[in-house]
Amino acid sequence: MKYPKSQTYDRQFLLDNMMGPNAMKILEEMTQLPEMLELKPQMRVLDLGCGRGLTSIFLAREFGVQVFATDLWITASENFARFKEAGLDNKIIPIHADVADLPYADEYFDAIISIDSYQYFGREEGFVDEKMAPLLKKGGKLAIVVPGLVKDIHDNIPPEMLLSWNAEAIETLRSPGWWRDLMSKSLRMELQAVGELECYSECWNDWLACDNEYAIGDRKAMEGGAGKYMDLVYIIAAKK
Ligand SMILES: C[S@@+](CC[C@H](N)C(=O)[O-])C[C@H]1O[C@@H](n2cnc3c(N)ncnc32)[C@H](O)[C@@H]1O
Repeated sequence: MKYPKSQTYDRQFLLDNMMGPNAMKILEEMTQLPEMLELKPQMRVLDLGCGRGLTSIFLAREFGVQVFATDLWITASENFARFKEAGLDNKIIPIHADVADLPYADEYFDAIISIDSYQYFGREEGFVDEKMAPLLKKGGKLAIVVPGLVKDIHDNIPPEMLLSWNAEAIETLRSPGWWRDLMSKSLRMELQAVGELECYSECWNDWLACDNEYAIGDRKAMEGGAGKYMDLVYIIAAKK
């Protein structure tokens, strides 16, 4: 797969701001999935767990949507400086918030996009109906990508995986089937697609090339062979 849009961005800027597998390429592939909403300039998009805002920049620049770049670990001031530098501070609103207590009106968003963060807070049954569905307009889309596993191996964790991650971290990694079961229990969202992204290897290789302590930490498992168990899982659901 080719990533013509992501490839127009400065590679060093991307490496400096990645917090996991290349979120910009992930988003580029996700926005081409047939079940994905066609993003248009007048739309409002919640970029949930945006980290350093690479996906927020991509959404604002490539689609002209208004983005609410929301994150817990990265401050609004840090992201505001980056969005200003990118000339996108009129399109992206940086928000520092916990998903447990988001400051948004009901039915405010056309889409919620969440790359590499939903696995930390969205694994409980009921979460999607209580916290995500209210924020979306009718027909609005929830589009998630999480690092996951080809199949669930939690009863017998391969030793290669433990080279970088403890059992608690591995608990967040789940198979497409596990996510399908969870999301299909939603009463307020219609599950439209669950699958694996093609960009998995490329996005991981970009991340492992980062000079970032977490990327360096992840190299041990991936170089030890854990990559064969890993996956990038996408989930798309629409508000009923
Ligand atoms: C691995 S980083 C990924 C960041 C970004 N999406 C990317 O792919 O580069 C996970 C992000 O999830 C966010 N996150 C975790 N728990 C959260 C919560 N309870 N509320 C809001 N954001 C949360 C963190 O702040 C962090 O930036």
